[in-house]
Amino acid sequence: SNSCDIISFNSRMTILHTIRLIAILFCLAMAVNWQYGFSSTYLNTPVDQFKAYLNESLGGDMSEGTYDLWWDLIQNIWFVGFFVGIFLNPALNNRLGRRYGMMIANSCILLAAVLQWLAIILHQPVLIIIGRAIASTFTAIAFESLILYLQESPPTHIRGTASFMSEITFALFCVEGTMLGTDELLGNNLPWLTASVIPICVFSVVIIFFLPETSKYLISTGADRAVIEHSVRFFHGPHADIPAILKETEMELTAESHSSTWSSVLDLVRIPHLRKTLFISVCCLQNCVALWTFIYNSALFFEDINIDSGIAKWAATALCVSYFVGTVIGGSVVDRWGRRTILLPFSYINVVLLVLFTAFTQLQKVEDFFKYLAVVTIVLYSGFYGLGVGAISWFISSELTPIKYRSLMQSACYSINTVTVVICTFTVLPFYFWIGSYAFLILYCIPTILALIYVTRNLPETKGREIHDI
Ligand SMILES: *[C@@H]1O[C@H](CO)[C@@H](O)[C@H](O)[C@H]1NC(C)=O
Repeated sequence: SNSCDIISFNSRMTILHTIRLIAILFCLAMAVNWQYGFSSTYLNTPVDQFKAYLNESLGGDMSEGTYDLWWDLIQNIWFVGFFVGIFLNPALNNRLGRRYGMMIANSCILLAAVLQWLAIILHQPVLIIIGRAIASTFTAIAFESLILYLQESPPTHIRGTASFMSEITFALFCVEGTMLGTDELLGNNLPWLTASVIPICVFSVVIIFFLPETSKYLISTGADRAVIEHSVRFFHGPHADIPAILKETEMELTAESHSSTWSSVLDLVRIPHLRKTLFISVCCLQNCVALWTFIYNSALFFEDINIDSGIAKWAATALCVSYFVGTVIGGSVVDRWGRRTILLPFSYINVVLLVLFTAFTQLQKVEDFFKYLAVVTIVLYSGFYGLGVGAISWFISSELTPIKYRSLMQSACYSINTVTVVICTFTVLPFYFWIGSYAFLILYCIPTILALIYVTRNLPETKGREIHDI
């Protein structure tokens, strides 16, 4: 019975430790994604207040044309900065490490948040554009650093749940950003709205000082044994089997020791298994493109099918909430069910839902009642997206790639994906006004189905496995 006691004591320690680790990673994810989710959504709801602010700042005689120009710039500068940030990622997260990468990124994001607040106080809209450019550039870096932390620091058996943290927190703060911008909350008070994110940015700079670098990165750069052990103990618990963990990581590293670093970019297309990973990841991310359109434009689509504008704003919030609930459920089942079993069925369901949405919006012209079914399909769509499609698609590239190429692979996938998203979010509205909701079939359903067929045939299961094994 004595040995039984020890076993139950040990398993209790493991559970406690797992909870502690999840809590740490949750805080880290929150530190990055609060700002990211907020910045992605806070412009959507208080559109009129921003219009009045711009008018006032520009001398009170702004024309509609000038307004459109400013508004487009303010919104879309985000994607430009994000795109630039993706290319800075290898320089920061690979050269300096995940920790310093995030430290620099979060400090710049704090600066950007202050700039955006000053822009409102001082009536200098240019500062909003500069602030958003800086914020998005470094959000791309902080976000990728976060994904690397979530992938590299936890023990393999909870890696899936850990990786979901990012999606869960992002969805949560999209809800927060959308709601905070409504008239009932801070929509009528732009200084407070923009100031609300500053304390979080301070928190995200402070928290990183308390976290060690990931052990996998330390090992790959040949750091001191003591430093590595400190990191392993921090993330895996004081009783971690350090030699075994180090051996796993070293096996992962030596599996890829032959090629030289400077031709790494070419390696992505030259080495067959990397090329395949690149294709798989890009195809997976294709499933995520449509959600952006709905996060940005849902209220517009809803109003277009004759839904009252008040209800449309609430439907837009419902969409974010459903996305959030989906991510919470997804995060708790991912390590039990595996990646393929979750990703593939839900991706197919989502294509079907998009087709249904198109059908309902067309039917609405005949029978008005169908508009409600259209809203329901989109709310379901974002729920399933959160549950199985989003998070897995974002971390699958890191999970399939050896550490040496990992952040490069991320950059390649994310930049290809950003280009696709930008092309789609820019073209969907003209397309939509031209051929109606059939635009969704052409821009989203058909490419996604092609991508899914490829993924179904090629994606290996990665649950609970290390990279040299995959
Ligand atoms: C800006 O404000 C002026 C004065 O209130 C108004 O006449 C004008 O229509 C406003 N411009 C826009 C684009 O709303």
